[in-house]
Amino acid sequence: MKFRKLFSLSALAIFCYTNSHAQTTPTITLHVDQARANVSPTLYGLMTEEINHSYDGGLYGELIRNRIFKDSKTSPEGWSLVKDNAADNASIQLIAANEDHIPYDERGQAINGALSTCLRLTVEKVSGRVGIGNEGYWGIPVRPSTTYNASFYIKGTARTEPFRWPWEPKPTAPPLPNIENNTPGPITVSIESSDGKTIYASGTINLEKSIYWKKYSLTLTTSADVHPTKDARFVISTNRLGVYYFNLVSLFPPTFNNQQNGFRTDLMQMLVDIKPKFLRFPGGNFLEGPLITDAFPWKTTLGPIENRPGHKGSWGYRASDGMGLLEFLEWTEDMGAEPLLAVYAGYSLQGDHVDAGPLLQPYVDDALDEIEYVTGDTKTYWGAKRAADGHPEPFKLHYIEIGNEDWFDRSNSYDGRFKQFRNAIETKYPQLTCISTIPAKQYPSMKVTGKEPEVVDEHYYRNSWDMWEHASQYDTYDRNGPKIFVGEWATREGAPTTNLNAALGDAAWMTGMERNSDLVIMSCYAPLFVNVNKATATAPKAWQWDSDLIGYDALTSYGSPSYYVQKIFSHYLGNKIVPVTAENIPVQNRPLTKKDSAEGIKSKVVPTIFYSGTKNDSTGNIYLKIVNTKAKKQTIKIVLEGVSNVSPEATNIVITGSKPEDTNTITDPEKIMPVTTKEKIKGKRFNKSLPPYSVTVIQLQTN
Ligand code: AHR
Repeated sequence: MKFRKLFSLSALAIFCYTNSHAQTTPTITLHVDQARANVSPTLYGLMTEEINHSYDGGLYGELIRNRIFKDSKTSPEGWSLVKDNAADNASIQLIAANEDHIPYDERGQAINGALSTCLRLTVEKVSGRVGIGNEGYWGIPVRPSTTYNASFYIKGTARTEPFRWPWEPKPTAPPLPNIENNTPGPITVSIESSDGKTIYASGTINLEKSIYWKKYSLTLTTSADVHPTKDARFVISTNRLGVYYFNLVSLFPPTFNNQQNGFRTDLMQMLVDIKPKFLRFPGGNFLEGPLITDAFPWKTTLGPIENRPGHKGSWGYRASDGMGLLEFLEWTEDMGAEPLLAVYAGYSLQGDHVDAGPLLQPYVDDALDEIEYVTGDTKTYWGAKRAADGHPEPFKLHYIEIGNEDWFDRSNSYDGRFKQFRNAIETKYPQLTCISTIPAKQYPSMKVTGKEPEVVDEHYYRNSWDMWEHASQYDTYDRNGPKIFVGEWATREGAPTTNLNAALGDAAWMTGMERNSDLVIMSCYAPLFVNVNKATATAPKAWQWDSDLIGYDALTSYGSPSYYVQKIFSHYLGNKIVPVTAENIPVQNRPLTKKDSAEGIKSKVVPTIFYSGTKNDSTGNIYLKIVNTKAKKQTIKIVLEGVSNVSPEATNIVITGSKPEDTNTITDPEKIMPVTTKEKIKGKRFNKSLPPYSVTVIQLQTN
């Protein structure tokens, strides 16, 4: 096939390097009239999971850390006792229904099975304000003229003697102070500075006298003259003696599109701006959990937040599951993208697996239920549940990923597990394509036998040298094999977010995916989010994984250089692949790794310029992407073949910086940004100067 030959030609051109002192001008030729293969319409998407406080303390709008008090069994993490007068006597304590260490009289305080732990505030001597304070996720964001929605369950006990079976022990703990009758009355709710000296917004609720839980809601509005800060806390307080119980304490700022239980606006806007075509969720490791019992429990992430107990998560902290299955789907919808749903496939991170056969069937059935929730009409059981949850319209779905990184499963059980899932899913939903997480090319001994998967998921976390070395790896992939989904990839340089050098690695790698997007049908960078807070006296460091795409704290956010590469690659993309050939591309020597030396490799050269071309065949726009990884400017010749006319003005979109380590941060968020300029060009052959360390998109109008 001619098209394939051109790919090989292009690959050959890359490998027929001249040396770095080449006298001849590097030349890139676009064979525009041979642009026949389609760019995959789903080439660029996003991947997400709960890592680095991506949702709790990230995209999910909730501002209260540990809102149902289950983050730790031993202490109310994120919460503290607030006491204006040091001489007052008060304490806070976790009360977990059914925990043996809780005094007998205190058990059974559950609101329901999910809200089974609460916080008790005992006030025994009071002359000022006493209450419970929440530090948020490394602070509470305060902005001027902003209305927050607060709610919480509270009861001030008028205790009755609990029912006791004859065989149950008499209480041994000292009785609670007999001060219950004081609790009814006003309870103050405030957003205030962490030291309590400045109140930014406050309101009251009137606590009724009752032994039963009641939910109270109110809004809190800051004034116009408030200076934005995250050095703030949320406080619920009283000035009366008593024993008070709290559960599900929640505080939401305005959310994206004002959705209930919604998302942080700045982060959401950054995602929308990428224009992703799909969202892969819920993981990643977060799908699998450390143990089989920790897998993403999609059924308990549905419905009112009152019904969500949260779960252990995979990255060292508990997930509230406020970001549940429907929130993922609505997030996808808000971005104009499609879900790419990963279903738990019976393997978890610490190595446990469920063998194919009857023991696996409940997991297969669970995945079928999940697909029905996403796509079923309202006459189906799970489709009706989705409608009851507020979304009658089914979601579009084309791909189901079976598990995650199952090459870690040394039992080799994936072959059977994949088949069992695939058979069941394709029988019930023939329109769906199941993605295998074991690409045979990388793991030949773990190959899935029988019918070859139509799509396989490959993951690459590399440094920039590796990206440059392997940027053309897909040029030579077998076109008769499965399609490729690059479901996780990143150039890992810079922390917590990537630096310019990583962006150069990313861009080079993306030119390879783009040039081969007849084969690479989908790709998504990972991880997407990172809360950049370092450890404090009371809270641990917010992130577990270095080199992420978008960084934030409670108040502000920024895109890494890699983020801007994602954005411009996604925006400036045609629908046809333009075959490109190149000559005289300068190369550089790659320093040998220990592995290379051990394997007797003497030297390695990698190109210093990377490129890809696409064309929009209805507008005639051509998008040429070129990466210059060198510290010096490089001038190249660009030749357009097979076009009649080229408009004399080109648009350049350039990302560059002065050194590879340059990066964006919370305090310097726009150091590396794309800059758009217009440039006059002369006809179909013109010279182009590429700035040092740069990614350039040249948009040309042809006919
Ligand atoms: O992206 C971070 C992690 O890397 C993912 O959770 C996992 O799939 C991969 O190993």
